[in-house]
Amino acid sequence: MKEVEYDAEDAELGDFPHYMLKEIYDQPETIENAIRGRLSFDEATAKLGGLNMTPQELRAVDRIILAGCGTASHAAMVGEYLLESLARIPTEVEIASELRYRNLPTSTNTLLFVISQSGETIDTLGAMREGQRKGHRVLAITNGVGSTISRESDGGSYMHAGPEIGVAATKSFTSQCAMLTLLALLLGRMHHLPVSEGIRVINGLRALPDKIREILKLDAEIKVIAEKYAHAKGMLFFGRQFNYPTAVEAALKMKEISYIFASGHPSAELKHGIIALVNEDVPSVFIAPHDTVFVKNVSTIEEVRARSGPVIAVTTPGGEEQLRTICDDVIVVPESAEWVSPILCSIPLQLFSYHVACALGCDVDKPRNLAKSVTVE
Ligand code: AGP
Repeated sequence: MKEVEYDAEDAELGDFPHYMLKEIYDQPETIENAIRGRLSFDEATAKLGGLNMTPQELRAVDRIILAGCGTASHAAMVGEYLLESLARIPTEVEIASELRYRNLPTSTNTLLFVISQSGETIDTLGAMREGQRKGHRVLAITNGVGSTISRESDGGSYMHAGPEIGVAATKSFTSQCAMLTLLALLLGRMHHLPVSEGIRVINGLRALPDKIREILKLDAEIKVIAEKYAHAKGMLFFGRQFNYPTAVEAALKMKEISYIFASGHPSAELKHGIIALVNEDVPSVFIAPHDTVFVKNVSTIEEVRARSGPVIAVTTPGGEEQLRTICDDVIVVPESAEWVSPILCSIPLQLFSYHVACALGCDVDKPRNLAKSVTVE
C-alpha cells in the first residue's frame, strides 16, 4: 500500500459544533479523494494499483468474500450488490467476528477483502489472519494509514478520507461504498461490462461531490424533521436492493448516537413480522428513490400508513410528487444511478440521526459505551 499523510487541518473542528457534523460535511471532498487518479476514461475502468494482483490473477477471481464489522459490514453489503451487478462475480458478506471462527469452504480463486476504517478492529484483523493462515491472499480497504490491517494485508487501497474522529462512522461509509464501486468497475470491465456502462459508472462517481453539496443544503430542513421525531419510542428503516444496506446503516447511526431503538430491513420484510411494531409512536423511514423498485416501496409505505405509522421518505425528484401525498415528511436527494444511490441516500439520514441526537442532548461524538475502534474481542 502507498502511504498518505493526513493533513493536521483534517482533524480540526473549525466552526462545527461536533466532529460528526464536520465529517458529514467533509463528504464532497472525501469522495473526491477516494476516486482521484483512479478513473480511466480511455479504458472506461478504474485503477486500483495497491491490489498487488496481475490482471490475470484478478480475472481468475470467481468468488469474493467481503468482511468487516458494524458500518464497514454495511458498506460490504452495498459491495455485494455492486460486484454482482457490475462484475457478475458471486459475492458474500461475512461479519468479520463470525468469519474468523467459521469453517467457510473457499477455493483458490476466492478473493477475501476486509474493510475497516481504523484498520485496527480486532475481529476484522482476526478474519484477515485466518484467511491468510488458510493460504488466501487477503486484500483490505482501510482509512487508517499505517494501521495493522493495512500493514499485514496482502494489498489493498486507502480511502484517503482523512481522520474520522466521531464515533459514528459517516464519511468512512460513503468512501467505502465509493471504493467498492471502483473495485466492481475494475472487475466488471475485465469480464463483460461494456465500455458504455463503464463510462456511465465513471460519470456517476464523478457527479457525486456536487450532488452531495446539494444534499448538505437540506441540513436545516432535515433538522426540523428530526426535531419532530426526536421523542419517538423507536424507529424503523426500510429500503430495497442497493438501499437495503442504507436502511441498516441508518438504523445503526440512530441507535448509537441517540439511543433510540432502531432497526433496518428490506422493505418487503415488513409483512413478515415487523408490521407488528408499527403504530403512531414508531416512525418508519423509507429509502425510496425513483428507481426500479419504487412502486414496490410505495405499496409497503401504504401498508404502514394504513396502520397509523408516521412515514418519512428519502426519495429523488421523480418520486417526490407521489410520496408527498402519502408520507408525513419527504427528503429529496438528486437523481442518480442505483450503484451510487446508497452514498447519496445515506447522507440525509446521517444528518437526521445527528439532529435527533442533538435534540435529545446526547453526546454525539462520544456516545456511551462505545469506542471509535474496537481492539478487544
Ligand atoms: C459505526 O458507526 C460504528 N462506530 C462501528 O460500527 C464501526 O463501523 C465498527 O466498529 C468497525 O470499525 P472499523 O471500520 O474501524 O473496522
